[in-house]
Amino acid sequence: MGNHAANLQQVSGDPQPSARVVAITSGKGGVGKTNIAANLALSMAATQRILLLDADMSLGNLDLILNIRSKYNISHVLNGYKRIEDIIQAGPRDMRVICGASGLHELADINEYDQQRLIQHLSGLQNDTDVILVDTAAGIANPVVSFCLAADHVLVVTTPEASAMTDAYGMIKVLVRKGNPGPISIVVNMAHSVAEGKRTYQRLADVTGRFLQAKLYYAGTLLKDDRLCRAVRARTPVVLAYPQSQIASSFSALAARLGGIACERNNQNTFFRRVIRWLS
Ligand SMILES: Nc1ncnc2c1ncn2[C@@H]1O[C@H](COP(=O)(O)OP(=O)(O)OP(=O)(O)O)[C@@H](O)[C@H]1O
Ligand SMILES: [Mg+2]
Repeated sequence: MGNHAANLQQVSGDPQPSARVVAITSGKGGVGKTNIAANLALSMAATQRILLLDADMSLGNLDLILNIRSKYNISHVLNGYKRIEDIIQAGPRDMRVICGASGLHELADINEYDQQRLIQHLSGLQNDTDVILVDTAAGIANPVVSFCLAADHVLVVTTPEASAMTDAYGMIKVLVRKGNPGPISIVVNMAHSVAEGKRTYQRLADVTGRFLQAKLYYAGTLLKDDRLCRAVRARTPVVLAYPQSQIASSFSALAARLGGIACERNNQNTFFRRVIRWLS
């Protein structure tokens, strides 16, 4: 960061952000975002400090997959009943989890003073974290798009199904048109083979290049695997339930590949301040 940007940050009072923020999203629902968020977070947590945010406004179910009780969320912090520290849950492998980040969208509606105070507290979380993973809801609703635009890197999940690909393209189109600043990567889930996953990526990359003049990165393919469904029923992420399985290795490969995709950190503001800006 240049001196000028650092000075601006000091003036605005935000701590200098260090974490890279990856938003996980999709056009169509039910394509595997929440499972990918949980298992990718765990794969990354082997070597990095991870904060996982459940930003699904309606049916956030990260707590179910991780078997974490979450009584409080950001709304309780906004109401003054709880402190930020009280809503952070301890997940496996020392990762930290905020289950109710959905309350964040209310931040846009509160008075300026409380807003600034909360943003500063939240932004502090970015300092002792290497990667913040954000699990969003599906679809192009404003809050979902805001979380994506505020992130450093967007991971769009699709399956090889035509309807999932069409909706993924719809999401990519909105992000590109709104000037999404960072890389957009594709993960193909529930594929029958890696070749099918790569073909799915290539088709999306071709239309995105041709009609939107934008680049898509290939993050990886995850095969359809009944072990993942069994793990969901057992409320244990599949990388912990079946650590030797092929799908667990695919999650490690996905973590490595994402880490290798260069992204310019948007250091002008912290992630949380950017979310509020996009929401307002
Ligand atoms: N690789 C996979 N193999 C087999 N089944 C899978 C796989 N990935 C996801 N599923 C199935 O899809 C279901 C939905 O997954 P998940 O809740 O992660 O999707 P989502 O995209 O977060 O959904 P929503 O849009 O509702 O938030 C899982 O419970 C599981 O049954
Ligand atoms: Mg989900």
